[in-house]
Amino acid sequence: MPGLDDSMTTMVRTMYEVLTKDNGLDLMMRLQAKYPDKDVISLGKLLGIPAVFISDYQLTIELENSKKVVRSDQAKVAMEALGQKTLLVSGYQMPGKTGEESRHAHLESRDNVQSEMHPKHRVRWMEQMRPIMENHIKGKGEKNMSNATRDIASGSISSLLFGKEDRNKVAETLLLPVFAQTVRGSRTRAAIDKKYWGEIPDGYMRYSRRVMSYFTPFVGEYTDGKKETEEGLLRHFVDLHKAGKVSKEWVRDQVITMYGAGADTTKHTMDFMLFSLSEHPEIQHKLRQVFQERYQELFGDKQFDDLSVVEMNELIKKIPEINYFVKETLRRYPTAPLTVRKNLEDINIGGENIPAGASIFVPILLMNVDQKYWGSDAMEFNPDRFSPTASAERDSKALMTFYTGIHRCLGESFAYAELELFLTLILGHSSGVERVTTDEKALKQFTNGTMQIKGPVEYQFS
Ligand code: HEM
Repeated sequence: MPGLDDSMTTMVRTMYEVLTKDNGLDLMMRLQAKYPDKDVISLGKLLGIPAVFISDYQLTIELENSKKVVRSDQAKVAMEALGQKTLLVSGYQMPGKTGEESRHAHLESRDNVQSEMHPKHRVRWMEQMRPIMENHIKGKGEKNMSNATRDIASGSISSLLFGKEDRNKVAETLLLPVFAQTVRGSRTRAAIDKKYWGEIPDGYMRYSRRVMSYFTPFVGEYTDGKKETEEGLLRHFVDLHKAGKVSKEWVRDQVITMYGAGADTTKHTMDFMLFSLSEHPEIQHKLRQVFQERYQELFGDKQFDDLSVVEMNELIKKIPEINYFVKETLRRYPTAPLTVRKNLEDINIGGENIPAGASIFVPILLMNVDQKYWGSDAMEFNPDRFSPTASAERDSKALMTFYTGIHRCLGESFAYAELELFLTLILGHSSGVERVTTDEKALKQFTNGTMQIKGPVEYQFS
């Protein structure tokens, strides 16, 4: 490829090596910094593997809109290990089906879930999450927040699925965090090199058998009508099953999907929110000032503890700075930093011909810090960039954290409800949050498919 020198080749080779083992993000960032003008880089020409790397969000939108891509074929290696032929997050080309038929089946599955993920349910979700969060946030002193955010995220997804009273501890322990990490990790490995295709580690197979042997009878009790749940997604799924629209396996697979897609992602985002609050005391201070002012205006001397969830939601609407802080965390630390696609036909993206069947790497993280769209301070943490004046010139689609097209995150509204409530409870129940942990090993940021801080990280709540 013209313009690619030896050091570039070395870098891509190293990225490839590292992606198959540990953490390719730093390398991807160096890659982009070195060639800021290249939006599509052919790894095929460099490494002899059928893969390209796209780092421009507009080209990614074009790619998804072309309707010529499905999820990376190799994803199914990991997915099928869980027996999930109908898994919502799969969306790869299904055996015996054309690309178009597979896309259609995927969209049908999405439709079955989408109505229940609508923001109109926000207050109900917040009701369910509040006690789980307050259990960890209320009270002064030093707290191990790495454990807390794990419990909050798993409890939140659990309550979304099973309703307020029915948190399922077994499901949470079984599915977190190994499921998401293993699936994403093996997907990345598998997508990049043929030698990994079809190769699933024994430990993973054992683990997936445990997951399936718990979930098949557990969800089966609901689909067979032996157990009832009043609210939550499972109720909706069971109704769809009773109406003959979906199979038992479909219901089971969506339950597993929701844990896989929605727990680790929000857990690590909460970790990054705490990290950012403590890393930028001036931003925390300003946020707390605005919070106090608007709180006084709305509720005067009323105790924060006495606010209903409806009132908290009113408060959040009156303090858009809460949303800006959450968005900036999501931009700078997108916990799903990379995804992979396969094109079903030859396509041309950004002037590069991509032969059918290539692995197309889409580094969400890089798009979120692309100076072309986010300015020269793109790497800095600055929630004000989401204020109406600062964002007026920018296309809202440039924030790629929840992706685009037919795989765009279904849990976005739920994630915002969760993350905004989390921040509001921190602001309302404490007057300051400072990081106690200084150990660099614990504070190490890395990705194994999910972007995260190693932990454990302790914070002082005052
Ligand atoms: C900060 C939190 C979250 C982030 C950063 C995030 C990010 C993403 C991304 C990037 C995708 C597209 C992945 C791909 O195509 O490879 C996705 C898909 C998805 N997400 Fe999320 N997500 C989050 C939270 C959630 C939550 C809370 C739920 C469920 C309640 C959820 C459910 C899903 C589902 C079901 C899909 C698959 C959609 C499809 O393939 O049609 N996510 N998410």
